[in-house]
Amino acid sequence: MNVTVSVIKADVGSVGGHTQPSDELLAAVRERVEAERGKLLIDTRVFYCGDDISILMTHDRPLGDEAIHRLAWEAFRAGTDVAQRQGLYGAGQDLLKDAFSGNMRGLGPQVAELRLKERPNESLMILAADKTEPGAFNLPLYLAFADPMYSPGLLLSEDLHAGFRFRIMDVEHTDGDRIIELEAPERLYDIAALLRDTHRYVIASIWSRKYPDEQAAAVSTTRLRQIAGRYVGKDDPVAIVRVQKIFPATEELGPPFAIGAFVAGDTRGSHNLPLLPVPVNTPASTFFCHPMVTALGFSMRDGVLTGPVDLFADPVWEPIRHQIVRKAMEMRRQGFFQPAMLPISELEYGGIVARLRRLDDEFRVVADAS
Ligand code: 13P
Ligand code: MG
Ligand code: MG
Repeated sequence: MNVTVSVIKADVGSVGGHTQPSDELLAAVRERVEAERGKLLIDTRVFYCGDDISILMTHDRPLGDEAIHRLAWEAFRAGTDVAQRQGLYGAGQDLLKDAFSGNMRGLGPQVAELRLKERPNESLMILAADKTEPGAFNLPLYLAFADPMYSPGLLLSEDLHAGFRFRIMDVEHTDGDRIIELEAPERLYDIAALLRDTHRYVIASIWSRKYPDEQAAAVSTTRLRQIAGRYVGKDDPVAIVRVQKIFPATEELGPPFAIGAFVAGDTRGSHNLPLLPVPVNTPASTFFCHPMVTALGFSMRDGVLTGPVDLFADPVWEPIRHQIVRKAMEMRRQGFFQPAMLPISELEYGGIVARLRRLDDEFRVVADAS
């Protein structure tokens, strides 16, 4: 059976700052989508990571389907109404346009979608991050899909021997989406050269090379700044990853996240801190809005979901979290000093740009600078 899996995510308001949605807001979103279970949708789940609500939907519509995207839009609108009534912070933050127009593209919410021919034991991982950007998934996905040090399946399973194809998007390109397709392992160094630059190059999808029609992963690639033309909040990405059999195993995805690689985001979207794996429905941290990621495991049959299993909730993640938090605390000791604060090219808030412009006027050219 062919099934489409859609994850659409937005921040439409949170309690007392950029923390987490209120119970009432969440209930309003859930009520709207759950009314479609058995009608437009086969199945659905609604969960949050920090102040971002993800709507997971399975259905038989094509990718980018208007009815599916409209449903998510309406659910987020209903959530926004509650957020406004309750005076929540950032009510409707990620709904950048007033009206829905065809699909979510350019409207603000993050979208990851994947259409698949269901395996008899279809296994899925849904990733959702807060206080960071889509490139935050670059390193963990690269390691899980291209590096045998992290993904022994590349050596141990015939189905993975041929490697994977990476579709990488240039998200800074203003004149339409620019995509490059590179195959691992042959183009490993080219892939690495792009993915190291998480602000500009983002994994959009990953495909099996042995079974070229089989898509392994889909990542949301929206840059809110490109739409709004100013900072409105971080891009807080979501991703769908198929696991097991012809793809890396669920447990091969874990260790790449245990690195806690430094990513852009956190307070005012203007700093670098390590990406922290946390259980689902965790509020954003008052420790400088530490970037964080949740992972949910599902089984699916005929589009009906079983789960989730909270994949960062088992006891092993506790000491890993301690380590990553220590790394974050070290970085915070140097405050505004780069690379704790992002370089000027990436600073999301306008204030420092205006300050430097003013200072620029005070500079004088002198013959002898001493
Ligand atoms: P969000 O993008 O998660 O709303 O966070 C914005 C922010 O600036 C936090 O300091
Ligand atoms: Mg917010
Ligand atoms: Mg957020």
